[in-house]
Amino acid sequence: MSKIDDENIEAIGKVLNDNTRPLKERFRALFTLKNIGGAHAIECIKQGFKDPSALLKHELAYCLGQMQDSRANPVLIEVLKDTNQEPMVRHEAGEALGAIGDESAITILEEYSTDPVIEVAETCQLALMRIKWLQNTKKSSQKLSENPYASVDPAPPSTIENIDDLKQILLDENKSLFDRYRAMFSLRNLRSKESILALSAGLKAGSALFRHEIAFVLGQLQEEISVPYLREALENAEENEMVRHECAEALGSIAHPDCQKILNNYLNDKKRVVRESCIIALDMCEYENSPEFQYANTLNKINNH
Ligand SMILES: [Fe+2]
Ligand SMILES: [Fe+2]
Repeated sequence: MSKIDDENIEAIGKVLNDNTRPLKERFRALFTLKNIGGAHAIECIKQGFKDPSALLKHELAYCLGQMQDSRANPVLIEVLKDTNQEPMVRHEAGEALGAIGDESAITILEEYSTDPVIEVAETCQLALMRIKWLQNTKKSSQKLSENPYASVDPAPPSTIENIDDLKQILLDENKSLFDRYRAMFSLRNLRSKESILALSAGLKAGSALFRHEIAFVLGQLQEEISVPYLREALENAEENEMVRHECAEALGSIAHPDCQKILNNYLNDKKRVVRESCIIALDMCEYENSPEFQYANTLNKINNH
């Protein structure tokens, strides 16, 4: 890499790690580093884990996972182990290890798959399942539905294609979380009204981890019919903050004027992560509605968590 590139990365890293800057600018710096990739970008992202914003830190971990570079594994392992980090941040670190899919993460994921923080434990169980699934599918060639988004998902889609069957698995709390996630991603890939309504029902049917992932895929789908469901979960102050955060961001990416109105009501929420999510979500609304977006490719746009 040339010197000028290194200097550029350093400058972007400074924006990311400058807590006097607006959060939305720091997020944009993060996405730029994610797109640049490489060891230097990973190093800049690593510095951010000292920040007090759980929202920012969980996004750092998410981006490291999406970069699919196992040089980030030591950083992610440190975050997963650090019980001073918020559950949502540790969750995202575990999930990122699964997204990278390197077998060297298996031991640590096994250790934390019984973590007392349930979101962390469930995430590590899923990440382990994903890595094992990757190992096994290298040999077989299953035909699965295609992910229309640029994301690396925590589980592959299901081999089942029938929408009613998928819905049944999705909502069945006796099924394994991995199978329910597989149904979730199949329903997302179908992108029909019926499949989106099935997913929306999932906002009331499972652990906080499961519900937050439902909100995330509804954000990817960007369909107005899910707004009332996302709204209800965001408005419920008793709902887990990780779920409310993801609902706020999903509303931001749907970016309908109604979404803006809803989000404005939670800019002063008691929970920091909800307030900050609304700020970022309103920025996303602005971006989605901006003239330059008309020229951008929806599927290639930055996919944040
Ligand atoms: Fe997450
Ligand atoms: Fe998130």
